[in-house]
Order: sequence, then structure tokens, then C-alpha cells
Amino acid sequence: MASPFLHRAALRHPSPARQPPPRPQPPQQPPQPRRFGAATFALLAVFAASGAGALWVYPRLVKPQEQPAQPEKAEIVFEKTRKRPASKEEGRDLVSSQHLQVKNSWEHPGVYAWGSNTGRVAAPGSSETVIKTPRRIPYFDGQILRDVKLDREFGAAVTEDGDLVQWGAAFSKDSVAPAVTLKGKDIAKIEVSRDRIIALSSNGSVYSIPVAKADQASGLKETSKSWIPFWSETAALSYRSLKPENLGWGERVVDVRSGLEHCLLLTSKGRVFSAAASSEEFPSRGQLGIPGLTWQTRPAGPYDQPHEVPGLRGLTAKSVAAGDFHSVVLDSQGRVFSFGDNSTGQLGVQTDLGVAVDTPALVPINQLYSGTNLQPRVTSIAAGGLNTFFTVDAITTKSQTPGEVGRIVADTWACGEGIHGNLGTGKWTHVSAAPTKIRALSGLYEYDEAAGRVVPIRLARLAVGSTHACAILDNFTHLSASSKTAASDTNFGADVLWWGGNECYQLGTGKRNNANTPVHIGPLDGGLADAAHGRTGETLRLQITPRTTVQLGEDGKGRTASVEQRVECGRHVTAVYSGA
Ligand SMILES: *[C@@H]1O[C@H](CO)[C@@H](O)[C@H](O)[C@H]1NC(C)=O
Ligand SMILES: *[C@@H]1O[C@H](CO)[C@@H](O)[C@H](O)[C@H]1NC(C)=O
Ligand SMILES: *[C@@H]1O[C@H](CO)[C@@H](O)[C@H](O)[C@H]1NC(C)=O
Repeated sequence: MASPFLHRAALRHPSPARQPPPRPQPPQQPPQPRRFGAATFALLAVFAASGAGALWVYPRLVKPQEQPAQPEKAEIVFEKTRKRPASKEEGRDLVSSQHLQVKNSWEHPGVYAWGSNTGRVAAPGSSETVIKTPRRIPYFDGQILRDVKLDREFGAAVTEDGDLVQWGAAFSKDSVAPAVTLKGKDIAKIEVSRDRIIALSSNGSVYSIPVAKADQASGLKETSKSWIPFWSETAALSYRSLKPENLGWGERVVDVRSGLEHCLLLTSKGRVFSAAASSEEFPSRGQLGIPGLTWQTRPAGPYDQPHEVPGLRGLTAKSVAAGDFHSVVLDSQGRVFSFGDNSTGQLGVQTDLGVAVDTPALVPINQLYSGTNLQPRVTSIAAGGLNTFFTVDAITTKSQTPGEVGRIVADTWACGEGIHGNLGTGKWTHVSAAPTKIRALSGLYEYDEAAGRVVPIRLARLAVGSTHACAILDNFTHLSASSKTAASDTNFGADVLWWGGNECYQLGTGKRNNANTPVHIGPLDGGLADAAHGRTGETLRLQITPRTTVQLGEDGKGRTASVEQRVECGRHVTAVYSGA
């Protein structure tokens, strides 16, 4: 019998009684079901009623019979002797870590990075080999960026004006510091392969730019397998153009995704093209989705000319995703197709087509819900490394309980490698034969005050790196605390959880052990601002500020911009940046 609240329930409760501090869970244990009953609602009502009288106290929402396995962490209660807040804003800083984090994201836009630093990517100015907790890259201070992509050996970013910035050892051993390379192309977004940057400009042009500064200057990449035929561009900086043939009237490329050796191009008409994206290896694991296409059999013309994926002709693709050696496509009917490398089960398809599948295969999503009263529809896909993820809205089709029909369960599924914990399912399995549900990111609900009902919590975004990943929850957020609202009205952003490989400290936990279930990490400044306001300890957790238009800078005295915090999980490196 399905309960109206599946695994956990999160409640949006009236201020100031919001945000229960996270309860630390022993590692390797699946998240405990948490249900709030009528008692909790009553409790909430008490807090709501007590209003300003309950100032600066964090309530703890724990059902009495649900005893935590570990001793409770000490509550954060402010010392009686604390000076009284002089202003509303000061009071909010005193009461809320989340409020401070939102404020910091607006006052100090820029990039925080952590993880591997062997390629001088997380901290270009430091010779440390790992950066254990978030650290700012000073070059980007005050900047908001269109995109950031990180490899262990190089970093690439797009400025607010659409110029490309590059740094790290694979860019230039002699000058690892960030520098503008390609200018004036109005780049909207970038992806990175093993050794190239695939850039999509606002008007739909796609450029393939060598990572190495030396290759940009010479136009030739010297490798033992120097098989690059020719360069089609003559420019100060050598790059290639990826132009799909036969685009229709008004049709243009609207998205690009890249694996280590291949990339996918999505057009405004929902067509999918694939192309070689590396100068080192031609894709050979079926990830292009072009049966029979190899380096030897390729047609005349540039080696990296885009080809339309024949197995996807006739359907309307909505989004594309690429792992290291595989491809995933979501169409307008909510169907998911995958092709390429299946060595760790990342295709999510259980028929034996071999480890390299060069024809799109349909992922049998309905099978995952067979025997239930739920009808699934895939809402988003993501891929990275040897993993694929997708989110599903599963709609209740029949039920004895009135009001149950039409209720939506939002689930998150994972396939592929799990050895680093990268499935997020609580297991360390090497290979997943079929998609597995990430329980910690499935069946979540919160109470929608405005609508007066319980609503599912979906994911706002999934960022997938080579062995680690991060999910930003689409919970309620609040960004409108102002001089006109009550002193108890504090801002808060979106919850964000991390899991997977942590060999280079890329999860940001400050420790090195991998996590096979999603975990919280601390605030980006390491809790310094909180400590200044008397808050310390593990109850502090990072939240991400969603998009809003604000005045940036100290005390909101800078320029007005639309900005959101975004997460980039790369190859053993992670960043949180202010996104344009
Ligand atoms: C968001 O939802 C999660 C999962 O239920 C919950 O733990 C968290 O407290 C919620 N965050 C806020 C700000 O309500
Ligand atoms: C985009 O603009 C550039 C010039 O800035 C031009 O060379 C290119 O052909 C345009 N691309 C498309 C697809 O219109
Ligand atoms: C992909 O790999 C998994 C796990 O080895 C296997 O069960 C499945 O049948 C494979 N799928 C295809 C299409 O070969």
C-alpha cells in the first residue's frame, strides 16, 4: 500500500521555523524514512503562532518515536549575552547561515573550486596537489560567467560577454593562470573533450578549439598518431568549425554535449548529429551512433564533420547527454535512447548487444514501474564518466484512496559504474545491469503553503563529473527578505547533495572517503561567516542561490544583474560559480 508520503517528507514551514538542521546519518546506511504526521503539523503551528517571540531559535523537527541512532548534536542556541542586532539585516545574519550564504553569493560573485590540483585547475596559484575544501580562484572575483568546465588538467570558462578563458597545465605548462583565448564569438556554452573545447555560439555556430595554447598557435597538434588532415580556418587562434550539413530553414544548433572523444549536437528541430571531438582518438565505441563508422571507413572531408544519427531520424529530441564514451537522448515523448560504451551498464538497456552499441537503443523505463499503479515519464537526462542518470515523474493512474489519482512521485535513477559510489544508491557495485533508483533523491515531498497541499520535490539540476555527481533540489527557496519584510524573514537557497568518487577531495566534504549516498557539504567559505556569528559545526550546510535579478556587490551597491549559482562537476575537480 503506497503511503501518501513516500520515503521522506520535507515541509516548508512558516518562518522563522524553517530549515531543520540536517541530521548527520551514519555512512553507508540508506536514508531513513521520515514521515511527518499530524503531530508535526501541530508543532509547526506552534512555531508559526509564536512568531517573533521565538526569535533566533532553530526548531528541530523530529518525531518523538523516531530516535536517531547517534547522540543528538548540540543545538545552536545563541548565548544570552550576545549583543542585540543593530539592524534587521544584522539580525538575519545572526539567525541564519542560509541567509548569509545567499548574501555572500550576491556580494562576492566568482568561482569557488576544489579537488585535484595536479593540473593547477582548482587553485592555479598553488602548488598543492589537492584542494580539500572550496577555494576562490581570484581571477574570477566579481565576475559572473556563462559557463565553466573543468578537467583535472585544464579549466575553461565563458565570460559574461561570451569570450573564452582557459587555464591549467594542459593549456600551458608555463602559464597556468587564466587568460582570455578566443574572443568575439559570443559563446553561449562550452563542453570539453579529452583535448578540445567544443563551444556553441549564441547564433548556433559550433567551434572545436584545441585546449593546448601551443596547438592554438601552430594549428597543428603533434602526436604520435598525427592523423589530422587539415585545418579549415585561418585565424590568430586555430580552431575548427563543426557544421552539420542540410540544416532546414531556420534550423540551428541549440545544444552541444561532449564525451572524451565525441560530441553530440542538438538542433532547434530536434535532430541529433554526432562528431569526433578529440584530436587524439577517433570514437570507436559506438558513441557516434553511426553504424559502421570508423577512422578507416570515414567519408571524405574533415574527420570531425557532424553526421546525423540515423537511428534517431523521425523523432524529436528534446535533450542530449554524453558520458565519456556513451550518448543519451531524451525525445519529446519522454522516451530515452542510449548508444555507445556499455562496459559498466551505462546504457541502461538489458539486451545483449555487446559492450559497444552503435545504434540507439530504447531504455525500457516502463519496466521499472511494472506492477505499480504509476505511469512514468522521463523529465530530464544527465550523463558523465561511465554513468547515466534520469529523472522521472511517475503519475498515479489508479488508487482506492480518493485524491491519490494524479499524484506525482518524482524519482531519480542511475545506471553504470558504481565502484566509487557514483550511482548514489548506497552500493559499491562495479557494474549496474539495470537502472537503480537513488532513494535519497526519489519520492521527496514538501508542503506548498500557497497551494495548500503536498508537492513533489524534483531536481533543479544534476551535474555529473567523471566519478562524482551533485544534485540541486528544487525545494522552495526564498530570496525576497528586504528592509520591508519582517526581521524574522530570512533568505534561503536550494539544497544541494553530493556523492561518488572523492579520491581528490572533489566532493568538498574535506575528507577523502567516497560517498555512495548523497551527502551535504559545508558552506563555501568553510563556515567563516557563520563562525563570526557564533555558529559552528556540522549542522551548517551548503545551499545554492537560485536565479534572481539583484544588485551585486557589498551591501547591494553594485550593478544589477540576473545571476544564479551553478555547480560544475568535472574530472576530479568541482566548482560552484556565479552563472550569468
Ligand atoms: C529540501 O528537501 C530536503 C529533502 O526532503 C530536506 O532535507 C530539506 O530540508 C529541504 N530544504 C528546505 C530549505 O526546505
Ligand atoms: C554566427 O556569426 C558568425 C559571425 O560572428 C558567422 O561567421 C557565423 O556564420 C554565424 N553562424 C550562423 C550559424 O549563423
Ligand atoms: C549493458 O551491460 C549490462 C551489464 O553488464 C548488461 O546487463 C546489458 O545487457 C548490456 N546491454 C546491452 C545493450 O548490451
